[in-house]
Amino acid sequence: MRMKGKVAIITGGANGIGLAACHRFAEEGAKVIMADFDEASGAEQEAVGKEKGFELTFVQVDVANRESVAQLIEKTLDLHGKIDVLINNAGITNDATLLKMDPAVFQRVLDVNLTGVFNCTQAVVPHMIEAGSGKIINTSSVSGVYGNFGQTNYAATKAAVIGMTKTWAKEFGRKGINVNAVAPGFTATAMVKKMPEKVIAQMESAVSLQRLGEPEDIANAYLFLASEESNYVHGHVMHVDGGIMM
Ligand code: NAI
Repeated sequence: MRMKGKVAIITGGANGIGLAACHRFAEEGAKVIMADFDEASGAEQEAVGKEKGFELTFVQVDVANRESVAQLIEKTLDLHGKIDVLINNAGITNDATLLKMDPAVFQRVLDVNLTGVFNCTQAVVPHMIEAGSGKIINTSSVSGVYGNFGQTNYAATKAAVIGMTKTWAKEFGRKGINVNAVAPGFTATAMVKKMPEKVIAQMESAVSLQRLGEPEDIANAYLFLASEESNYVHGHVMHVDGGIMM
């Protein structure tokens, strides 16, 4: 029960890594807000969580929309009265090489993966400052650290997330708020499974552990960074990638 009584907002919580995190946090006693755009999966997964006895609530949000984010925070506070943990996990890809990338596609990925992280953190931090404590975990990517073919937009956002993490660590450490990032490697979710089998096989062979990550591998890193065990970890980017590059 490492998260007993803690209130955690997990964006992108209705699928993939975020969903695994919702389950891990709830298993450890957290009151989880599964914040996601995907209403169908959110409603279904809320019911699954309730059957397991989890304290898990789905709230629909578009992290790119400030009004929607404000409503998410209001609903969370109405329900639980505080926010201890924010996991900025929601993210999208829309790949093309630079010369083929539509500017609208470039911008939409920025709106969700970059502005979405800004929107949620800016809305949550005042409540954490008031409480004198909090944990913010941002989701970067191996693509943001090393670059990735066809991912100009995505890699830009995931590198930017590292910059924001370190900036916020400097701004809010003195307020008792830990800010860290996780940089997952290729992980077996819809985001990766939509790629051709040949590309997935190439990914696996590039990983020192010779396999894709499981959503739970990343969820466990989130859990560590949200728990009291990581209280002196700050401004850190934790690579959870099976040793894809060292
Ligand atoms: P996923 O596609 O399985 O889940 C992403 C979730 O975000 C979905 O539930 C989706 O509905 C939600 N979402 C998308 N746009 C949203 C919006 N505007 N507002 C609210 N929710 C929105 O993806 P996955 O793989 O679970 O990725 C989670 C995070 O991990 C993302 O930030 C991704 O960039 C990152 N990541 C994933 C890797 C992978 O190989 N799967 C590798 C490195 C990083």
